[in-house]
Amino acid sequence: MKIYSAIQPTGSIHLGNYAGAIMNWVKLQEEGRCIYCIANYHSLTANREPQHLPQRVFEAALDLLACGIDPEKSELYVQSHIPEVTELTWILSCCAPMGELNRMTQFKEKSQRLEVVNAGLFTYPILMASDILLFKAEVVPVGEDQLQHLEVTRVFARRFNALFGETFPEPKPSVTKATRVMALNDPTRKMSKSVEGSAIMLSDPPEVILRHVKRAVTDAGPSADPQQMSPGIANMFTLLETFSTPETVGYFREAYAGGNLRYKELKDALGRDLVAALEPIRLRRQELAAHPERVEEILHASAHRLRQVAKATLAEVREKVGLGVTPEA
Ligand code: TRP
Repeated sequence: MKIYSAIQPTGSIHLGNYAGAIMNWVKLQEEGRCIYCIANYHSLTANREPQHLPQRVFEAALDLLACGIDPEKSELYVQSHIPEVTELTWILSCCAPMGELNRMTQFKEKSQRLEVVNAGLFTYPILMASDILLFKAEVVPVGEDQLQHLEVTRVFARRFNALFGETFPEPKPSVTKATRVMALNDPTRKMSKSVEGSAIMLSDPPEVILRHVKRAVTDAGPSADPQQMSPGIANMFTLLETFSTPETVGYFREAYAGGNLRYKELKDALGRDLVAALEPIRLRRQELAAHPERVEEILHASAHRLRQVAKATLAEVREKVGLGVTPEA
């Protein structure tokens, strides 16, 4: 099984990203050959900060490796290191009706908030499809927000195959129930790096994590109806389910149901287990950060291997659509 996914380099990764997606990426390494990408071409649709982009890419790579993306098992590359993807994007865009892209809810939402809507934002799903199809990936782990993009990817693959002959497998989404981590200091909102005090970063030392947990918003006491659990307590249970043992979760669930859950005890356990899970990641991150050349080497080695695959796909596609071979430079 060939597994593919990507994230945009928005800088370092926080607990919400880790629990929501990256833990799953790490697990999938046991199930197939994984290719993971840091999508910096995609970030050009929104990001006009060339001075920050290289650092954001580096931080993303650092975080992913520290979380357990294993370069011995998987590929981890930077999207722009394989420029062939832009050629595939062009070719696929010539088979994509505008109406199909007009329906994308993410585009509708994003473009509403903008004064000027660039064409890249509109064709972004074609670039995403090209990422996937370039490597003939079969399974794509994504969050719910990307499902519609994956659906059009399947449409593009099917259409290309019908027009030019069997070329691409139709990639299937793999949607695990995404763990939605809310901000501990405002559990009605998703954990976010752009909100002050909201995010626990993977680079945070134990005392910072413990302070977040200690200050987490709770409520006046367990409610008689477990359906009525307040957002703050529900969020702590979500984290507990992700990072603690089933026994610990069971113990606190029972206490909650019995109306005698002590929030201090819950916070102590959660703090302890979060630190235990995140501390090895922070240390690996620190170690790698001290050796940027190692990170670079990993990214370059993947790009080197994958570029051969990309070139082979492009040669096949160029031939099929009538562009033929490129003369040697
Ligand atoms: N569009 C995705 C996001 O913003 C990132 C992405 C780019 C992606 N290419 C992809 C995800 C290919 C899955 C497969 O989150």
